[in-house]
Amino acid sequence: MNTDSSHSWYILGAGAIGGLWAHTMQVWGLDITVLARDEGQHNLLQSQGLQLSQDKITHTSHPKSLFPGIGHATIHNLLVCTKTYATLSAIEPWRKLLNPKANIILLQNGMGTAQSLQTVWPQFNIYCATTSDGAWRKAPWQVIQAGTGSTQMGAFSTHLSPQKMPTQIERLITASQQQENTLTLHWHKDIHTPMWHKLAVNGVINALTAIYQITNGELIQHPKARPRLEQLCRETEDVMSRCHITPIPHGLLNHALRVLQQTADNKSSMLQDCLAGRPSEIDAINGFIIQQGSILHLPCAAHRQVCDELRQHYPTS
Ligand SMILES: NC(=O)c1ccc[n+]([C@@H]2O[C@H](COP(=O)([O-])OP(=O)(O)OC[C@H]3O[C@@H](n4cnc5c(N)ncnc54)[C@H](OP(=O)(O)O)[C@@H]3O)[C@@H](O)[C@H]2O)c1
Repeated sequence: MNTDSSHSWYILGAGAIGGLWAHTMQVWGLDITVLARDEGQHNLLQSQGLQLSQDKITHTSHPKSLFPGIGHATIHNLLVCTKTYATLSAIEPWRKLLNPKANIILLQNGMGTAQSLQTVWPQFNIYCATTSDGAWRKAPWQVIQAGTGSTQMGAFSTHLSPQKMPTQIERLITASQQQENTLTLHWHKDIHTPMWHKLAVNGVINALTAIYQITNGELIQHPKARPRLEQLCRETEDVMSRCHITPIPHGLLNHALRVLQQTADNKSSMLQDCLAGRPSEIDAINGFIIQQGSILHLPCAAHRQVCDELRQHYPTS
């Protein structure tokens, strides 16, 4: 393990996806530290460790952790896996420890957070990642890996070259390539494209499944939801086209229907969050599409309607 602090990674938001990454990065031999929300979370992690279940086998690892107010390290590399709405407030307590030129990877669904972060702290080197891996949290520091996919990463900050992978991210990608049965990572020279494509699919599926309280598969034939899915696809493709985003091959509707078939039994994360009374990521998904549409004078009526309905059904969303 390299103990030069410029090689160390700090993980903020070690829930489902962050826990999966924290465990995996330790297996790769990297020096990692989890940034816990508070002393209670830190103590629990130190006493029980981080448990990750993969294919019914549970692995326990013991990452270092810090909580706000007890860290004196300099953070050069930060992986953020909080929900989108929690990002800025989660980073704030660690801001003084962040090197002014820190590499920050946002591994989240939705868009708009990287823009907000860069506006507040223009000097940070911000990278975005989008993943098709799946994980869920059974209990604090207990994560179940639900599906294996891949993760695309790329430069977000305009002061960074999209072609050039920074050394610390190259080390992650090399580690992923050198091991079998691990996370699959790729560098993408235009991260906006895969992010938009993921956003588009989430934007046409998730809110509808939450409003009608249906599984992904049930959305395909649902008499009320299906026409709304089609309208959301048309609006989203209009916005993407006007934003000069590379279209999704064979169209968004076909792609969304394929995803719905492949994940027919799944309850979307938005449905699960809403049913549990947790906030949803709707602002970073449909809200972002509406915001981009309004810049282009596109009304995005169907997206506005699902946002309004979601908030009526679930006031905490
Ligand atoms: N799970 C998946 O399969 C999956 C797949 C693709 C993309 N994503 C995306 O990945 C992101 C994370 O999702 P997730 O499912 O991993 O969510 P999650 O399980 O809720 O994890 C988020 C973690 O952030 C922590 N957190 C929030 N505020 C914090 C703070 N101030 N300080 C420290 N920690 C804080 C939460 O801690 P508390 O427990 O204290 O709230 C929680 O552990 C989302 O954008 C999601 O859309 C998830």
